[in-house]
Amino acid sequence: MVVETKNNRPVFLRRLASNDFDNLFDYLQNLSAETKKRFGPHMFDPQSIVEFYKYPDIHRGYVAHDIETKKIIAYSIIRIGYLEHDKARLQSYGLTLDNKTDCTFAPSVADLWQSCGVGNKMFHFILSDLKTNRINRIILWGGVQVDNDKAVNYYKKNDFRILGQFTYNGENYDMILDISGIHSR
Ligand SMILES: CC(C)(COP(=O)(O)OP(=O)(O)OC[C@H]1O[C@@H](n2cnc3c(N)ncnc32)[C@H](O)[C@@H]1OP(=O)(O)O)[C@@H](O)C(=O)NCCC(=O)NCCS
Repeated sequence: MVVETKNNRPVFLRRLASNDFDNLFDYLQNLSAETKKRFGPHMFDPQSIVEFYKYPDIHRGYVAHDIETKKIIAYSIIRIGYLEHDKARLQSYGLTLDNKTDCTFAPSVADLWQSCGVGNKMFHFILSDLKTNRINRIILWGGVQVDNDKAVNYYKKNDFRILGQFTYNGENYDMILDISGIHSR
């Protein structure tokens, strides 16, 4: 699917494929230290990428690529289900977790492309892709750092709500979005 950014650049949104791995490795290597600090659902070396996508029923990657250069300019992950590691904390908010109808989300956009609308477009693309699954809720992957204004605004803009706050390498929010209503639209 082709979309246009706020600065009128066409980008292509699609699911990640195994022949994207080299391009994805370059994308991850070129992220700034600041963005790497915010986004780390898996290690960035080639072997870890291959390992991570060995389970296509669980881990689904999405990319946006620049139509001119073919380079990946944004990368997001949906994990079907919740993170075992976050289970107790998420349950402490009163959530009843479900590995079939919950999913976990981690987004990233290349530094030079941030704040150009790519993150929003990619999120809407993912939402429409999730309609084909029976996913009712999207939970953030390990929460979001409280001082990450860009991301906190991004989630709020997309109707996520704060579940609670926890301390891990600083202060973080757990956030969630109910999409069960979207399926029936
Ligand atoms: C968070 C991130 C995915 C958002 O994607 P993006 O393409 O930069 O965001 P968009 O341009 O689509 O903007 C979407 C919303 O985010 C917020 N936002 C974007 N840039 C912002 C900025 N510079 N300051 C404050 N809020 C900002 C706004 O609410 C914006 O909505 P608006 O354009 O209607 O005002 C991206 O900035 C990113 O990769 N950041 C680094 C990695 C990261 O933090 N990942 C999340 C880890 S929890």
